[in-house]
Amino acid sequence: MDNLKTKQNINGLSGEITIPPDKSISHRAIIFGALTKGKIEIKNLSLGEDCLNTLKIFEKLGVKHQFISKRDLILDSTNGFFSPKESLYCGNSGTTTRLLSGFFAWQDFNIELKGDESLSKRPMKRVIEPLSQMGAKIESNNNKLPLKIEGNKLKGITYYSQIASAQVKSCLLLAGLGANGKTKIYEPNLSRNHSEIMLEYLEAQISTGKDENGFYSEIIPSKLTPKNLEIVGDISSAAFFMVAAAIVPNSSIVIKNVGINPTRTGIIDVFEQAQINFELLNQRTICNEKVADIKVTYSENIKPFEISGDIIPRLIDEIPILAVLATQANGKSIIKDAQDLRNKESDRIKTVTESFKELGIKIEEFEDGFEITGKNKINSNATLKTHLDHRLAMSYYVLSLINKKEMTIDGFNCINSSFPEFIEMMNLLQ
Ligand code: S3P
Repeated sequence: MDNLKTKQNINGLSGEITIPPDKSISHRAIIFGALTKGKIEIKNLSLGEDCLNTLKIFEKLGVKHQFISKRDLILDSTNGFFSPKESLYCGNSGTTTRLLSGFFAWQDFNIELKGDESLSKRPMKRVIEPLSQMGAKIESNNNKLPLKIEGNKLKGITYYSQIASAQVKSCLLLAGLGANGKTKIYEPNLSRNHSEIMLEYLEAQISTGKDENGFYSEIIPSKLTPKNLEIVGDISSAAFFMVAAAIVPNSSIVIKNVGINPTRTGIIDVFEQAQINFELLNQRTICNEKVADIKVTYSENIKPFEISGDIIPRLIDEIPILAVLATQANGKSIIKDAQDLRNKESDRIKTVTESFKELGIKIEEFEDGFEITGKNKINSNATLKTHLDHRLAMSYYVLSLINKKEMTIDGFNCINSSFPEFIEMMNLLQ
């Protein structure tokens, strides 16, 4: 299914789906779970290629795993970690690369990290620089992959990150777990805090807060307690269905088990701003992460919205699908302060602008975002390119649901890196 021909004349989405597990939390469950050096059960792990690549890397270090059902596994790191015999492949996953750099920086062996074409173009200076300040020995290809990391003794530092990035923050927390003394990371806005929540759950000595320098997370090297972990559903996957139900006439769906950690719910704030019909049902907590079922109903009169500043890290992955929502709003929507979108699986500002223009949608590109004029009727046979970017592929699929003509999404199978069940779930609702 490399080239997907989309369907036409969808008559509303209806029914219930359970959204697959959160990818950010899944990576962290494997990494922190392995660091407990115990035997634990992880329930509801993401089966996207990105998280499986993290799992395979630990397998090459001697950490055993056994699936006991489709998404539940036993992870056994009681024998510790061994030097891998070959280079380690991170595929398309920035999270695998950046988080594991902090872990490998203080192991007793040397490794090499590699990735696919898209990952090999992405910037790694954001982790190489602070890790080097801690004493890490890293060689790179001009601050890009491949990375050669020689395990070394690290010292704790205080680092003021210029960007709000959970990958940078988590990389340094992982480095801090093996460093001498305390490691404190400041960020200008609060990025997702799944690492902090899981580390606290596993009884690490970690604290968080805010002072005149910004938001901070601080860690002291600690032993993690082996405990079973369960992963909530991924709001960034739910986002495609939330927007689809909001824009496709006659839709009403319930998306079950969606993680609603406040550092991830920028899309819910946008839904409020856009006056979309939705409800959060059955709110509860799993392994200290908040979760709810989300009901979304077709919304005829979508208000235009503006997003900038501190909300950006809370919805950074949802911007392509929120751009789709903006195409159906009643006026101009503006997205600003999102320049890091240019460093994702593709340059999402450029690629979204190009594709929307192909479809005849009114969009103006800025250095740090775009402006989209809404109420577009889409009637196009275009072929859109995904550039190996899973979130573009799924966002274009949602747009196709309101396209009067058949279009083609080129390179659609890149969705396997994050959400292999996407089409199956869409079909369930049609
Ligand atoms: C992630 C953090 C975000 C996000 C990515 C996953 C994580 O990246 O875009 O999909 O799991 O830490 P940045 O931290 O670079 O913003």
